Amino acid sequence: MRRLTYFVACSIDGFIGGPDGDASFMTRFVDEEYFGFLKSEYPETLPTQGRRHLGIDDLPNKRFDTIVQGRGSYDLALKEGITSPYAHLREYVASRTLAESPDPNVEIVSTDLAGRVRALKAEEGAYDVYLCGGSAVAGELVDEIDELVIKTYPIVLGTGMPMFGSAFAVSEFVTRDVRTFGNGVVVRTYDRKR
Ligand SMILES: NC(=O)c1ccc[n+]([C@@H]2O[C@H](COP(=O)([O-])OP(=O)(O)OC[C@H]3O[C@@H](n4cnc5c(N)ncnc54)[C@H](OP(=O)(O)O)[C@@H]3O)[C@@H](O)[C@H]2O)c1
Repeated sequence: MRRLTYFVACSIDGFIGGPDGDASFMTRFVDEEYFGFLKSEYPETLPTQGRRHLGIDDLPNKRFDTIVQGRGSYDLALKEGITSPYAHLREYVASRTLAESPDPNVEIVSTDLAGRVRALKAEEGAYDVYLCGGSAVAGELVDEIDELVIKTYPIVLGTGMPMFGSAFAVSEFVTRDVRTFGNGVVVRTYDRKR
């Protein structure tokens, strides 16, 4: 069984972006040490354009071969004219408004999102499924999440976009790993308690 991993960056107070979702202010923490970690352990979570720019487009996938994101997150790439922001992965975008996919590598999921994710998890394969977000889609898929990789940046926002746009419910996770970086970033990995 492949796992669904929500791999996400957030503030100390748990927001994945400002009130409108903008998370661009988080990039300031991507220094040499932390980028080295991302590059060596999660290279496929770096967008294709960035990988090309850095000359690391040929890095093989390590953990994931598939990405699921909401249309809100996908829009960030579309606005830049990029139709396949994770071309090194199979891309699934949840949307009820995108009538057809703007790219052959991107499949639009318009109905039964959780069922589609369960089908992806049931496929044979050594790689897991990367849940990119954002908040709305993570909230809809919270019961399907098997692993959390939470990259916490040393900032407080006071308000912003929550990690999960879902109703109150207690879901238990078990801490598997905590990694700290010189710039104050903490990466915590959790498994769902089953
Ligand atoms: N800090 C981080 O690591 C991180 C990671 C990812 C994203 N983000 C931020 O998150 C923000 C976007 O989050 P968001 O909550 O606004 O949007 P989102 O979750 O990315 O996308 C929401 C959209 O997904 C579609 N959708 C949701 N549930 C669906 C379902 N059950 N079936 C079919 N389609 C469904 C709808 O699209 P339609 O309206 O087209 O129907 C909905 O408007 C971005 O601004 C980004 O910066 C941050």
